[in-house]
Amino acid sequence: LEATVTLHPDFQVGPIDRRLFGSFVEHLGRAVYTGIYEPGHPTSDEHGFRRDVADLTHELGVSMIRYPGGNFVSNYVWEDGVGPKEDRKPFIDLAWRTIEPNEVGTDEFLQWAEREGIEPMMAVNLGTRGVAAAAALVEYCNGEAGSQWADMRIANGREKPYGVKLWCLGNEMDGPWQIGHKDAHEYGKLAAEAGKAMKLVDPSIELVACGSSSMYMDTFGEWERTVLSYTYDIVDHISMHAYYEEKNGDRASFLGSATAMDRFIERVVASADAIGAQKRSDKKITISFDEWNVWYLETRFVGEKNLPLQRDAPRIIEDVYSALDAVVVGDLLVTLLNHADRVPVAALAQLVNVIAPIMTEPGGEAWRQTTFHPFAHTARLAQGSVLDLRVDVPTMTTTAHGDVPVVTAAATWGGASAEGTGDVALFLVNRSAEPATVTIKHPGVRLDLAGGIELLADHVGMREGKAAAEEVGVVERDAPGSAEGTVTITLAPESWSAWHGT
Ligand code: AHR
Repeated sequence: LEATVTLHPDFQVGPIDRRLFGSFVEHLGRAVYTGIYEPGHPTSDEHGFRRDVADLTHELGVSMIRYPGGNFVSNYVWEDGVGPKEDRKPFIDLAWRTIEPNEVGTDEFLQWAEREGIEPMMAVNLGTRGVAAAAALVEYCNGEAGSQWADMRIANGREKPYGVKLWCLGNEMDGPWQIGHKDAHEYGKLAAEAGKAMKLVDPSIELVACGSSSMYMDTFGEWERTVLSYTYDIVDHISMHAYYEEKNGDRASFLGSATAMDRFIERVVASADAIGAQKRSDKKITISFDEWNVWYLETRFVGEKNLPLQRDAPRIIEDVYSALDAVVVGDLLVTLLNHADRVPVAALAQLVNVIAPIMTEPGGEAWRQTTFHPFAHTARLAQGSVLDLRVDVPTMTTTAHGDVPVVTAAATWGGASAEGTGDVALFLVNRSAEPATVTIKHPGVRLDLAGGIELLADHVGMREGKAAAEEVGVVERDAPGSAEGTVTITLAPESWSAWHGT
């Protein structure tokens, strides 16, 4: 199996926005309580936040975190989650049927993110609430002293505005499961009005309109068209959400998931640009891919669809990942990188315990799942701009996605070094069960790859617990062979790898 990748630094997709390496913390299961926050844990700071989880978050390379939901936000009264903790009341979160203790709210989260140097992305409730509550929250977070909601923040102990830049106008409002679900016209009008009010409070913010919850929603396409016809001039981004899983042992289709993501992005871009064309607008709507991951939603989530009312941070959707899942996560990152021109913001859903790269035991350890590795290495190595590659590869036929490329590739070119060359990173995935020989052509430009990191989709299956999960790790690869103008890399079957050099 042979593939050819041609690169040249003069041909670029665009610079990488660091917000592409975002993640997500929802009030769901153990994401907040016993996830990022656990007073009394041996590593917790004076605010009750776990140091071990924060350290792994940095190692993962997360730049931005979306909060507080997710489905949770559509029934959230943010005012009840601020002020003295002893005055806050527990309530029933209708999304996950859990008693929310209300110990962590807007201030606790934003101060944690600030201490950790992570950009927050906030969501407003457009399910059970509307324009006024959304505008008030922007004022609470970003307003200067001298008006009602900003003064409430100051009275709660926080003088300086948080300066939250990124805001989601609700969450998955197309989904019938969403509390306060709306049709595209209802949502489009509400999002436009809420967005207008929010930007009148703080014109510097960026807004994300809800796109479809997945490409497979019946309303997909029409939803984007209608919502953007109301919101085009107000919003900056439209959201995309996608989760992939192996169904019925169909490994090939699962390995082709990133091609489905690729097509999804192209379709949403086409829908957005069609509205722009109709409006004769020079503005381009970009994508906030603010939920993506492998999630065994249809296969393992079944029992959790009819949740009993629970309390005390129940274990909900704590998927355990295999090495194969990690290869697919690496491939999804390849797709995101290759769309750097239209996808500036993305969030791996989620960060800790809930379909997450980081797991914890209450009172105990925190560890990396298999999916941690491709994310961490990509976030670290992908610097500068994404190159516009020419990739010549055979295809394989899959049941779910038709023909998909057997090998996928992305390359990044960092800032110029003293010798005038950039730092290069190359990400390669071999989806086939055969080894693949990839010839990298780099006409007229030097390319010295110093080595690589490889992750193989073994057949061992899930990796439950710290020891099993961390056994996967990644293997180091030596510098590949090179000749004049070419580098040749052999990829193991069903593998993700990242190569670095100058
Ligand atoms: O990430 C888990 C859930 O998936 C989120 O709450 C929701 O937005 C999506 O359906």
